[in-house]
Amino acid sequence: MKHFFFYYLCLAFLLQACGVRGGNHEPIRPGKLWLDDRGVHINAHGGGVLYHKGTYYWYGEYKSDSTSKALVGITCYSSSNLTDWKNEGIALSVADNDTTSDIAKGCIMERPKVIYNERTGKFVMWFHLELRGRGYAAARSAVAVSDSPTGPFRHLRSMRPDAGQLPFDMTAEERAVLDTLDAAKYARWWTPEWREAIRKGLFVKRDLEGGQMARDMQLFVDDDGKAYHIFSSEDNLTLHIAELSDDYLSHTGKYVRVAPGGHNEAPALFKKDGVYWMITSGCTGWDPNEARLFSAPSIWGPWTQLPNPCVGPKSEITFGGQSTFVLRLPGADDRFIFMADIWRPKHPSDARYIWLPVRFKEGVPYVEWMDQWDLGFFDRPIVEQE
Ligand code: DGJ
Repeated sequence: MKHFFFYYLCLAFLLQACGVRGGNHEPIRPGKLWLDDRGVHINAHGGGVLYHKGTYYWYGEYKSDSTSKALVGITCYSSSNLTDWKNEGIALSVADNDTTSDIAKGCIMERPKVIYNERTGKFVMWFHLELRGRGYAAARSAVAVSDSPTGPFRHLRSMRPDAGQLPFDMTAEERAVLDTLDAAKYARWWTPEWREAIRKGLFVKRDLEGGQMARDMQLFVDDDGKAYHIFSSEDNLTLHIAELSDDYLSHTGKYVRVAPGGHNEAPALFKKDGVYWMITSGCTGWDPNEARLFSAPSIWGPWTQLPNPCVGPKSEITFGGQSTFVLRLPGADDRFIFMADIWRPKHPSDARYIWLPVRFKEGVPYVEWMDQWDLGFFDRPIVEQE
């Protein structure tokens, strides 16, 4: 009996070691319910994942059953294996009893992302904020900070970024053209002249004083520790990539515009072998549309658009979802997971998650639909993956 117990322990140890090395993975089922440690569908929409000291933290919008307005706040889940998630509760709460707060209950908090600042030892959260009762008009960014990855995060302030600043790569000639743009001439939208004026920066000029609009967003920390805030600006017509200060708590004022007038939302940025990649969506509200892919040799561009990176059924509508994040797996330069949301505007808390591996063909990323897969996928030889 004693021997039996000893062999049993050895076997259990071996199995566990196998699991750690990649032999024993739970399946990920894109689009299906994903239950947390309490048996409840994970409520972390428009989210992103931070890996910190051996643990993954998944942050996202807590969605209620009947409204996408923020009635609760931003949730946090933790995991050691990316499949089993422990509900860590609310990382940042809405202000429950203060209707004057930027984050008053009933505001809109979307697409939260958290990064860790090595210098300050703080966890920094940015998210898209719309003020209570104002629909999507405010188009602001908000920043919160915490000493612990699970929170509580403390809301610091909200703003429209880069007030008073023009894109740093705008030439003197382009600035001169901007000076001549007269908003009164372009009251009618979508005309060829209006499009050309947008490309030249009509809305950058309009919002110069109060700061640039900022809606769907992403954070990206580069290898040198510099962090960037990527967001849909200019009435969702143009993406901005803006540098954050060393403590990640404010913008430095240095930014570029990407794909002016291209109507991109939901930016998800990653870097492989020195090349920057960004997956985005078009702008169709909660309805899915075709994903876009961009690449650049530097964070500051030039950004080039490539064909739709999605492959397989419903690839023309991002498998029914919208990008939210690309997670680079720790310790690997070539393993990335594409994350997207399948929105359910009539029942927001029932929105689903798409997680799929990012694969590469001749160096270009693509995402192929799979009903089910597991993290062992990354250990299998490429031929078996094809
Ligand atoms: C699409 C955005 O990507 C979402 O985050 C949300 O803002 C919806 N639009 C609202 O319609």
